[in-house]
Amino acid sequence: MCGIVGAVAHRLVTPVLLEGLKRLEYRGYDSAGIAVLDSTNQLARARAKGKVRGLEEVMQTTPLNGRVGIAHTRWATHGVPSLENAHPHICRDTVAVVHNGIIENHETLRAEQKRKGHNFSSETDTEVIVHEIHDKMTDGGLDLLAAVQATVSILEGAYALGVISTEEPGRLVTARKGSPLVIGVGEREHFIASDIFALLGETQRFIFLEEGDVADMRADSITIYDEDGNKVERPISETKLAADSAEKGSYRHYMEKEIYEQPQAISNTLEGRIINEKVVDESFGPDASAAFDLVKRVQIVACGTSFHAGMVAKYWLESIANLPCDIEVASEYRYRPHIVSEGTLFVTISQSGETADTLAALKEAKNMGYAHTLAICNVPESSIVRESEWALMTRAGPEIGVASTKAFTTQLVALLLLVVALGRRNGLKAEKEAQITRQLINLPAEIEQVLELDQEIKQWAKCFGDKHHALYLGRGEQYPVAMEGALKLKEISYIHAEAYPAGELKHGPLALIDEEMPVVAVAPNNELLEKLKSNLQEVQARGGQLFVFADANAPLDAAPGVKILRVAETDEVVAPIVYTIPLQLLSYHAALIKGTDVDQPRNLAKSVTVE
Ligand code: M6R
Repeated sequence: MCGIVGAVAHRLVTPVLLEGLKRLEYRGYDSAGIAVLDSTNQLARARAKGKVRGLEEVMQTTPLNGRVGIAHTRWATHGVPSLENAHPHICRDTVAVVHNGIIENHETLRAEQKRKGHNFSSETDTEVIVHEIHDKMTDGGLDLLAAVQATVSILEGAYALGVISTEEPGRLVTARKGSPLVIGVGEREHFIASDIFALLGETQRFIFLEEGDVADMRADSITIYDEDGNKVERPISETKLAADSAEKGSYRHYMEKEIYEQPQAISNTLEGRIINEKVVDESFGPDASAAFDLVKRVQIVACGTSFHAGMVAKYWLESIANLPCDIEVASEYRYRPHIVSEGTLFVTISQSGETADTLAALKEAKNMGYAHTLAICNVPESSIVRESEWALMTRAGPEIGVASTKAFTTQLVALLLLVVALGRRNGLKAEKEAQITRQLINLPAEIEQVLELDQEIKQWAKCFGDKHHALYLGRGEQYPVAMEGALKLKEISYIHAEAYPAGELKHGPLALIDEEMPVVAVAPNNELLEKLKSNLQEVQARGGQLFVFADANAPLDAAPGVKILRVAETDEVVAPIVYTIPLQLLSYHAALIKGTDVDQPRNLAKSVTVE
């Protein structure tokens, strides 16, 4: 959470910082701020509560210009969203800091600094960093680099930092541990940012700092030190991503664009991974093939939408690959003891690859005796990918809307490839593998067809605009799909939504049913359809309003209180992927009707890099 950006150049950098902030706004939008060293080498700062456009307005009346600067967009952790808590934080007009992460020992440091006479102007954990750096420069006589190195050595927690000082104009010092940060390498100018997309308009060349690294940056040089203070070389990687790869184009929202990108994203995820109707083992890593022979069990750990993908995978692993699978949300997994069976593959699923809970669970798992670790992830340079032995990239392209859409469906595709590769070792027949891979190849075309339901779904969404609650029902592997649909509705339209396996209704939630509680059901034509029909009748009999997404051939009929939308006939295995699409569209249209901020819903952020 929180986005940071910084620049040191021979030109004025404010436009670079503002553009970077706009591109990082998905990481948090509680406040935004910029600090630069101006033409007289004084610190000039502008901040605004709320979004980056508020900061732009402030800067129209008070322009800031400088050749070195740092900027921040905030997702509040310590202290409410307010002007006072907005970064950059400054100490005695000499040092300015932007920070992403959480400093766990901030209370101890704050108490000491108060004793030394520092007045605190914010409630943030970050402010202790700037006072500490300041004191190490003034009392300790250290230069900016040494002061940052000394400061980070006493910090507990996670940080990505950008630091500038009036004492050393032309210098930008950066450091990271536990929070993401990249250096953008330009021609006689250098940049920092929380992700590469913030800087794609400036450079395609990036350095990914290792845990504990500190970098000393000037317009003409970059020197990197590891955690022990040794000078180190970190490779420069070149990205092929175009500057406009994270732009909205003609769509109203990123979420809409990302929903419509799913056929292409799925094709990309499949490319080169199926040959002659067989999943290519090497897709998972050069040595995965031999190691997969020994996998006896799978443990999946993830959060949010990625957790829902993992739940679908559990159904698939147990029914198709004949392998037992456990799944747990990362924030729970990391805080309890585990019994790890021999031959267990540990799988993390994460769009961003930076989710703090998932990353921490992975780090724990590496010391717990798992056979191997595999990440299903969308960001190749992310911490989770770097911490994992193997990675299968989802190739969804940048997902900017906070509500995950194409990341989810490409995760499901990647997971199904894994299921088939493992299943082949556990009795999955070649004909069945060929059948599933054909279904996968066919998926983009099927999804194109489902997207054509958009206008009808838009009509349905009108019935949700004045509602406060909704229930989502599914059975089998459609239960996690229903959970994902409910999550989408609540996060972007703020309508409270819950998902239940439909058979569970009679054990409690049926009491909630009335005409004010729309009930959404996913009903592919599978062996559980008859059971689901009975559950739906229970709702209908109690005056509930049913909205059913059903297979073209499912023997279900519209009736008073029962609306049915026919989803093109699909194969059972890929049905969870296909049925996700109408639920995404339903929540998108409901949010439009409610007039919420679709791409940046309140209180949320895209990348949850704090616990
Ligand atoms: O980047 P990750 O997939 O690890 O993120 C996990 C969750 O924070 C995320 O899936 C969240 O639930 C979605 N944005 C919801 O749409």
